[in-house]
Amino acid sequence: MSSSKKKLIAGNWKMNGSLAANEALVKALIAGLQDPACDVAVAVPLLYLAQVQALVAGSSVELAAQDVSAHEAGAYTGEVSAAMLKDFGARYVLVGHSERRQYHGETDAVVAEKTQRALAAGITPIVCVGETLQEREAGQTEVVVKRQLAAVIHVNGHCISEVVVAYEPVWAIGTGRTASPEQAQAVHAVLRAQLAAASEHADRIRLLYGGSMNAANAAQLLAQPDIDGGLVGGASLKAPDFLQIIAAAR
Ligand code: PGA
Repeated sequence: MSSSKKKLIAGNWKMNGSLAANEALVKALIAGLQDPACDVAVAVPLLYLAQVQALVAGSSVELAAQDVSAHEAGAYTGEVSAAMLKDFGARYVLVGHSERRQYHGETDAVVAEKTQRALAAGITPIVCVGETLQEREAGQTEVVVKRQLAAVIHVNGHCISEVVVAYEPVWAIGTGRTASPEQAQAVHAVLRAQLAAASEHADRIRLLYGGSMNAANAAQLLAQPDIDGGLVGGASLKAPDFLQIIAAAR
């Protein structure tokens, strides 16, 4: 059943780019995209949302942000609200990326609030979960990802089938050390079962894999039954590599 939904390939630029580099990258991406079989998005630094919104207009590339405030509006200096992201055409927002959890102290509770803010503004949250190397070696992978997912799906008021979930083992992010297709599928199957227990629409929810996905390993990862797309960091900064990953997602 999971094969009936379109895959999603989302690039996560992280804190990279410039006006000139973004323009070149997005133009090359659009030029190389011929009627993609999957959905395509780029998560850009906040300051460049307006620039990239204009660049992708009329193309099949959708816009994503990398973070959103847990608050609705008001005296939160430096924060950007979900409504503001919506104003600039954001279709998706990454929530709870491990770099936010690790360097900015985001707890499961904060990630759940951000998820709710995004949904309330009509933006699809891409909720990131994943274990550290230490947790994997301690046999804690399942416990950790289930706890992280439970925090966002056990909030009432919204249909959880509106979220996208990204499994990103922390040890695979930016390290060149990808989870094997079997390792990734095993965790995706756990997440799918957890979603199925919580919602009759679990099959609709897209489960992305992220962590050193590249042009060479994407096809095998994306062929797994419960892998519905990819969240791509480093390889999304090079148009030819990102295009190859998109071509592998059918
Ligand atoms: P990577 O990053 O592809 O560079 O490992 C993925 C991510 O952090 O989203």
